[in-house]
Formats: sequence, structure tokens, C-alpha cells
Amino acid sequence: MCHVFTYLCIGQDIFLAGVDTGAITMIWAMTELARNPRVMKKAQEEIRTTLGLKKDRINEEDIDKVEYLKLIIKETFRLHPALPFLLPRETVSHVKIKGYDIPPKTQIQLNVWRIGRDPERWTDPEDFIPERFTNSCVDFRGQNFELLPFGSGRRICPGMPMAIATVELGLLNLLYFFDWRLPEGMVSEEDIDMEEAGNLTIVKKLPLQLVPVQRHL
Ligand code: HEM
Repeated sequence: MCHVFTYLCIGQDIFLAGVDTGAITMIWAMTELARNPRVMKKAQEEIRTTLGLKKDRINEEDIDKVEYLKLIIKETFRLHPALPFLLPRETVSHVKIKGYDIPPKTQIQLNVWRIGRDPERWTDPEDFIPERFTNSCVDFRGQNFELLPFGSGRRICPGMPMAIATVELGLLNLLYFFDWRLPEGMVSEEDIDMEEAGNLTIVKKLPLQLVPVQRHL
């Protein structure tokens, strides 16, 4: 299939791999930040202290300076992988897993959404705690099986470097230049709806509504 964008086809569904997934990740990251003012404040303090208050644009080099933002993105990938299931795999030979016999040519569906919330692997799995990745070598580049938002092995997402740069730059801009308030009529951040929708990709069911307040330069 040839197009300026890359399409993935799974069964009868087609989705725009390169655009949708990055936007989904940014929406979930902003949703979690709005729901967790402590994390939002810490992120903005780090960003503004590190970059200073006088920049009129963010450069790619700035990304390397903001460590906490990277932890936030990791935590977003853990709780909200854009694709809940990886591309289907097939066993090439007989394998035994936890006492179960899996014959050759069995289709395997890997639910990374569930793995990211597995209480046997994560402490307080439902909570958004970027600090869990401080001094941790767990990364999302396909080597740590508890965190596989981009998959792993030969079929790992080829757009990963572009995706990460897009999400990092996007969030960095949103957090550096703007403060974020709840919309009129919403009294508490706990009122932000977290319901998910979709099957191929997991999107936020209701649109996220926040009010940007421009920080004075
Ligand atoms: C946050 C953004 C993104 C996420 C979370 C994501 C996630 C994934 C995942 C989970 C897979 C399946 C990997 C596997 O089964 O092991 C995949 C495959 C793929 N992704 Fe992404 N992706 C993102 C962005 C992108 C971008 C920006 C592009 C292209 C510019 C892209 C192109 C592809 C392609 C072509 C495949 C299929 C690879 C194959 O068939 O072997 N993705 N992606």
C-alpha cells in the first residue's frame, strides 16, 4: 500500500498509524496531567526552571533537558498505549506456557493495555505516578516486556523515533507556554471523565476540555 502516510490493515479495519496514535497519546498525557495537578506543577516547574522563561520557541535540543517530562510520557504509555493489542503473532512450533499446551500456528494476541496495569508487575497500577520510572531501567523500546506500547521484535513500530519526538515536542510546547485550567462549571479535576472507547486504538470517549492560559513572556 503506497501513500504519504502509512496505513496498517488488520482484518477489515484500517487506521492511520502515524497520526492518530501520537494525538491519542498527547490527549491522554494532558488528561492525566489535568487530573494530577501535583504532576502538572512539577513538570512545569522543571521545564520552566531548566529552559528559563524567555524562550519564544522550543528547539529539539530542549527535549534532552527535561527528564521529568520523559517519565510522564513513559507513564502515559503504560496506562494508555494507543494500541491495546499488538499486531497478531503466530506460533511456529509447539510451546508450553504455565502448563498450557499451545500448538503450532496458533494466533497470539498480546494485550499490552492489560500488561501495563498488571498488579503483579506494577505497584498501584491504576495511579499515574511518573516517579515509578526514576532510576528504573524499564523502557518502552521493546526490550522490557512489561511496557510494550510500540511492540517488540521484528514487527516493532518503525515510526517510534518520530512518534516519541512528536509527543515530546508537542507536550513540551503545551506545558512551557500555557497554564491549564478546568473549564467553567467543572469544580474538581476528579470530574474529568476517564472513560475509554475504541477497539483497535483506545481513545478518550469524551473530548478533553481544558482552558489554556498563556504564560506571559
Ligand atoms: C505514539 C505513537 C505510536 C504508537 C503508540 C505506535 C504503536 C505501534 C504498535 C504497538 C505497533 C505494532 C507493533 C507490534 O506488533 O510489535 C505499530 C506498528 C506500526 N507502526 Fe506505529 N505507533 C506510533 C506511531 C507511528 C508512526 C509515527 C508511524 C509512521 C510514521 C508508525 C508506523 C507504524 C507501522 C508502519 C507499523 C507496522 C509495522 C509492521 O507491520 O511490521 N507508527 N505501531
